[in-house]
Amino acid sequence: ADLTHIRNFSIIAHIDHGKSTLADRLIQRCGGLTEREMTAQVLDNMDIEKERGITIKAQTVRLDYTAKDGQTYELNLMDTPGHVDFAYEVSRSLAACEGALLVVDAAQGVEAQTLANVYQSIEHDHEIVPVINKIDLPAAEPEKVKAEIEEVIGLDASEAVLASAKAGIGIDEILEAIVTKIPAPKGDRDAPLKAMLVDSWYDPYLGVVILVRVINGVLKKGQQIKFMIGGTEHLVDRVGCMRPKIEQLPELGPGEIGFITAQIKEIAQTRVGDTITTVKNPAAEPLPGFKEVQPVVFCGLFPVDANDFEKLRDSIHKLRLNDASFSFEMETSAALGFGFRCGFLGLLHLEIIQERLSREYDLDLITTAPSVVYDIHMNNGELRQLHNPADMPDANHIDHIDEPWIEATIYVPDEYLGALLKLCQDRRGIQKDLTYVGGRAQIKYELPLNEVVFDFYDRLKSISRGYASFDYHQIGMREGDLVKMNILVNNEPVDALSMIVHRGAAEARGRHMCERLKDLIPRHLFKIPIQAAIGGKVIARETIAALRKDVTAKCYGGDITRKKKLLEKQKEGKKRMREYGSVQIPQEAFIAALRMG
Ligand code: GTP
Repeated sequence: ADLTHIRNFSIIAHIDHGKSTLADRLIQRCGGLTEREMTAQVLDNMDIEKERGITIKAQTVRLDYTAKDGQTYELNLMDTPGHVDFAYEVSRSLAACEGALLVVDAAQGVEAQTLANVYQSIEHDHEIVPVINKIDLPAAEPEKVKAEIEEVIGLDASEAVLASAKAGIGIDEILEAIVTKIPAPKGDRDAPLKAMLVDSWYDPYLGVVILVRVINGVLKKGQQIKFMIGGTEHLVDRVGCMRPKIEQLPELGPGEIGFITAQIKEIAQTRVGDTITTVKNPAAEPLPGFKEVQPVVFCGLFPVDANDFEKLRDSIHKLRLNDASFSFEMETSAALGFGFRCGFLGLLHLEIIQERLSREYDLDLITTAPSVVYDIHMNNGELRQLHNPADMPDANHIDHIDEPWIEATIYVPDEYLGALLKLCQDRRGIQKDLTYVGGRAQIKYELPLNEVVFDFYDRLKSISRGYASFDYHQIGMREGDLVKMNILVNNEPVDALSMIVHRGAAEARGRHMCERLKDLIPRHLFKIPIQAAIGGKVIARETIAALRKDVTAKCYGGDITRKKKLLEKQKEGKKRMREYGSVQIPQEAFIAALRMG
């Protein structure tokens, strides 16, 4: 298409403010799908996304819109993942657009996560069109939300579109605003091909599908292309767009967004943010902004039933086909058997993978406490990256340890502010800013990521009854007084329960864990000490009292079948026990201890 008739935009919205509903409406209005095909939300195409109401993988659609000026425009709607764990993907999607719709719920107002994405969008020089959605709700306060957008974000909201994606109000106004306010892309058709790899996913029929934004030049079937950062070369065998059904096209020209396939088998070969050019007439340099994504949160995944290990291995390999951003390697644990140490972009990413494994692949899993990546500076000058507490070197050889820090932005209604500040303070937070915006406090805190992966979200939500919103970005590594805490059962360390903690928090956490295990481990014929220790020093201790009588004693020797049954049961129980010295611990005890943190 002619450049002046193209508009590329994304939708920025906080979770649940109506992004998917609005996208569906726009598709419907532009004739992309029939009424019948509209029954399910189209853009959120994975089950988990639907259930949790979050968008994970970006999907993009092309719409043809005939505007009031009588001209037909090609509108490319770029869907972006809605969570902070996928911030880099979001940044690439935004870089592929010239504008954005900022959707704000008329009853909820601006939320922390909206802000992070809006600021990114502003950084990309986007034209931002504010849309106040859900004006059909009785609790809607569009004027208040307009004022909030102006006050908090500093955008002119006087021409904000008042809409209801659900009731179909304001849809034409939004489409007109896209055409008249968002600038057309620029590009040079005659320059060497330069296209950004925005996203990729694995399709069982097509192989790896790549979403691209062409900057200069033309992408065509039959071209030999090259990934400038990845370094590999491929033959383009399909070029097209999604409406949202796949439609093949002769070419993608400058300014256009669409997809290609190039006989690529592995998603790991396609890096988000890479630059695609042709082998014959390559561009001089890649596009700016490429970043290698690195997992930041690690945990062990073990099958509850040891016989499921092979199944877990297969499932992890399959998931990895579609998500190159999580990593895994085999791990063995004395307590939990064979499993995998996996790395994720963040906690939500971890939850998504864990849920997909249990739901799509029907696996019952044990997850060990999430850990961040520490930089261990050794006395001899060596730097080691630690993602598993089990690999912690001897403290005598360590000079110091650095841990990752984040800056968090939290929005919270006034009444919960006190409790929230206490939470941040307890987690070693450093308050940077506190301001009020329309009855809500906006707080900025610097926090160690280590404290955030330890049930911070859950506490945040329960303290604020779900009203707080949270967003963060990493701000680098800082030295911390960190130690490895071991949990010993009958004087033997249990590998799956050891963790890296701040020295100041160690005692409380150690005591907590000991108390818990005391209730979870059954009594034996002898006393069992449960201890939390740092190096050789015990910091917390509980004792499980000895069992006085034989289990069968209470049968008074009378009922022989009952006695047999009990013994039978005991035997069965044994199969799932792990031995620690002479102590047998049922697997469930580990699971329960780990689940409760
Ligand atoms: P994520 O995919 O998590 O980012 O959420 P989303 O922003 O896409 O929200 P979604 O479109 O799934 O809408 C969230 C909820 O709000 C759904 O229950 C919608 O039916 C509802 N909703 C969306 N738009 C409107 C609206 O205009 N009015 C009302 N009353 N409800 C709406």
